[in-house]
Amino acid sequence: MKTRIYKISSSNVDAVAIKEAGEILRRGGLVAFPTETVYGLGGDALNDASAARIYAAKGRPVDNPLIVHLGRIKDITAIALEIPEVFYTLAEEFWPGPLTMILKKSPLVPDSTTGGLKTVAVRMPNHQTALKLIEMAGGFVAAPSANLSGRPSPTKSKYVIEDMDGRVEMIIDGGETEIGLESTILDLTTSRPEILRPGSVTKEMLDPIIATNFPDIMENSSPNVARAPGMKYRHYAPKGRLIIVDGEEKAVISYINAQVRKEKEAGLLTGVIASSETWKNYDADEIKCIGARQDEEGIAHNLYRVLRELDDKITDVIYSETFSSEGIGQAIMNRLLKAASYQVVRV
Ligand code: TXA
Ligand code: MG
Repeated sequence: MKTRIYKISSSNVDAVAIKEAGEILRRGGLVAFPTETVYGLGGDALNDASAARIYAAKGRPVDNPLIVHLGRIKDITAIALEIPEVFYTLAEEFWPGPLTMILKKSPLVPDSTTGGLKTVAVRMPNHQTALKLIEMAGGFVAAPSANLSGRPSPTKSKYVIEDMDGRVEMIIDGGETEIGLESTILDLTTSRPEILRPGSVTKEMLDPIIATNFPDIMENSSPNVARAPGMKYRHYAPKGRLIIVDGEEKAVISYINAQVRKEKEAGLLTGVIASSETWKNYDADEIKCIGARQDEEGIAHNLYRVLRELDDKITDVIYSETFSSEGIGQAIMNRLLKAASYQVVRV
């Protein structure tokens, strides 16, 4: 398949390309498009065949459900049933934005879109191009992240092209995505809402609203067994071994440098992921500065790009510092720990 690539500026939402992209989606085709989190791989959410094509293009298991993107809160009643009041409160507060909510699905949503589940994940992206595309496509666009299954979500069109060229009808190039990590997923079908995936809408931001709406239900004290089906699959893992090192700054630097020296002697290509405060202290083959320690948003923005760049160099072993888990830091450490298969060395 020949993939057309259109570059678009975020202010130019009337572009012919978006109208054409909407047409492609209405006819059952696929279009990769930018959102404020990561690039999405879009198909018509109400078309059975489109969902099947999305799974095939990504190489994704068909029981891993897709997020339905919409452009107007009022459209929710077409695709969801028994919508709780708290949904509207949260949508007013955080939409358009990086919050995905799980609701009971209506019969209009095909089982293929929801991976056979009776629930549906919904979100309104905070991105003018995405919103225009959703409108042009008829209102409901199913979109997982636009990466091949097992690779980091794309934050730049370059990575979408790498993974999706020849697999989709069109790629809309809207430059680099703003946030860089996927949306927060909140399940509203349980007795008390539960976060299934951390993102930039944090627990601290959600808790006051949830507490107001569920005053009688105490917080579930049992650990959150991730029920987003996507969580059970092997997540993105770099081609090289990734090891997270935690401890006091000086100790971390000397431990990593000692390891790197040994690995280099063994003929391995080494990488380090470090903060802007510390990166100059390292002596690895590939040193990636991910951002300033206090700037969690900057680190979130850079994480997937840095991981892809290290993969491109085919680094054999990568050491990463630990970063703040304040705010979006929770989502950063969640993705980094998964990429490292939870290998953490404490020094
Ligand atoms: O920021 C984002 O959310 C991006 C952009 C494109 O919107 N999309 C994204 O989609 O990250 P994806 O498919 O890569 O991740 C969706 C996650 C998966 O882990 C999936 O299992 C979970 O959402 N999910 C989808 N529907 C669900 C449902 N009904 N119940 C529980 N989890 C669900
Ligand atoms: Mg994904």
